[in-house]
Amino acid sequence: MHIVVTGGAGFIGANFVRRTVATRPDVRITVVDALTYAANESSLDGVGVEFVKGSITDPAVVDELVAPADAVVNFAADTHNDNSLTDPWPFLDTNIRGTAVLLDAVRRHEKRLHHISTDEVFGDLPLGTPERFTEETPYRPSSPYSASKASSDHLVRAWVRSFGVQATISNCSNNYGPYQHVEKFIPRQITNILSGERPKLYGAGANVRDWIHVDDHNDAVWAILERGTIGETYLIGADGERSNREVLALILEATGRAPDDFDTVPDRAGHDLRYAIDSSKLRRELGWAPARADFAAGLRDTVDWYRENRAWWEPGKAGTEAAYARRETPR
Ligand code: NAD
Ligand code: TYD
Repeated sequence: MHIVVTGGAGFIGANFVRRTVATRPDVRITVVDALTYAANESSLDGVGVEFVKGSITDPAVVDELVAPADAVVNFAADTHNDNSLTDPWPFLDTNIRGTAVLLDAVRRHEKRLHHISTDEVFGDLPLGTPERFTEETPYRPSSPYSASKASSDHLVRAWVRSFGVQATISNCSNNYGPYQHVEKFIPRQITNILSGERPKLYGAGANVRDWIHVDDHNDAVWAILERGTIGETYLIGADGERSNREVLALILEATGRAPDDFDTVPDRAGHDLRYAIDSSKLRRELGWAPARADFAAGLRDTVDWYRENRAWWEPGKAGTEAAYARRETPR
């Protein structure tokens, strides 16, 4: 099998490539990545896959890569909510137009597509209720990022229905693990501590995210690629609901810091309160289950990874914090 992995120099894509190379030697991989600020080429060091620098918004690049492949797995996206509040335009270009370019190519070449999406397309849930997102939950995105991902999902469904494209979609909850950019919540707090800075919590830290280890997400992607029904959507989640305050407490504990050794900073505009995934369809129909459901243990491993891989994250840390400093004033 020959697959094109878009966005393979980003967090989840690089983990997908590394895990696939390690566990499926019969799969040939071509990575295409525009190498935006979010990419880190060294995430693929020593992996030995074909790498093409290019954008999914470029029809010529995409056409040439899709033609000889069997399938495309689309991880490429602009992904950070905070950045989408400052400048939404790159999100609309990559996440919407880029997905349309991929759809056009897989349609013409009659190839399989798996589109990676997010639970954020559903908007948010109230705190403290048992309600969770399912495949039937209506779309109600809050931010330019989640609205652009919602748009991309609609395009995939339209191409499946109108043109018979062989595509599936997955909407996953918040991922954590190695190789995640230091702008995101968990790596930002870990690397702040490792740099002698204090973690930064938005508002009161009551917002809840449903955490899943990146390897569990990627195993689910393979289950869908191999056994998923064309045209279907699968929600991926590992029952990992935690408030930001709880996650930060675990990070402080794992790094030997005092429980109150953090700053609170002004809240994100339009901040989604709570995400929670009901992944029973995926578990029932495709037999997937998370293997790394112990969140505290996975988080300790992630802390260790950032401790042992300073050369991976240190070069980008100061620039990321400078961008945050322009929008945050500690109270
Ligand atoms: P990331 O920001 O770490 O990586 C995105 C990658 O895409 C980068 O390497 C970047 O260079 C590349 N890219 C951006 N624009 C491109 C373009 N026009 N053409 C080619 N490459 C381009 O993101 P991530 O966290 O790895 O997320 C990957 C996918 O998973 C995204 O589609 C995201 O919406 C989805 N997702 C992420 C999470 C999460 O918690 N991180 C959860 C659910 C879904
Ligand atoms: P983030 O990693 O940006 O993911 P998402 O917005 O896709 O959920 O943020 C996760 C949560 O952490 C979110 O509720 C915002 C919060 N947060 C902080 O409290 N402090 C921070 O420095 C960052 C980056 C996020």
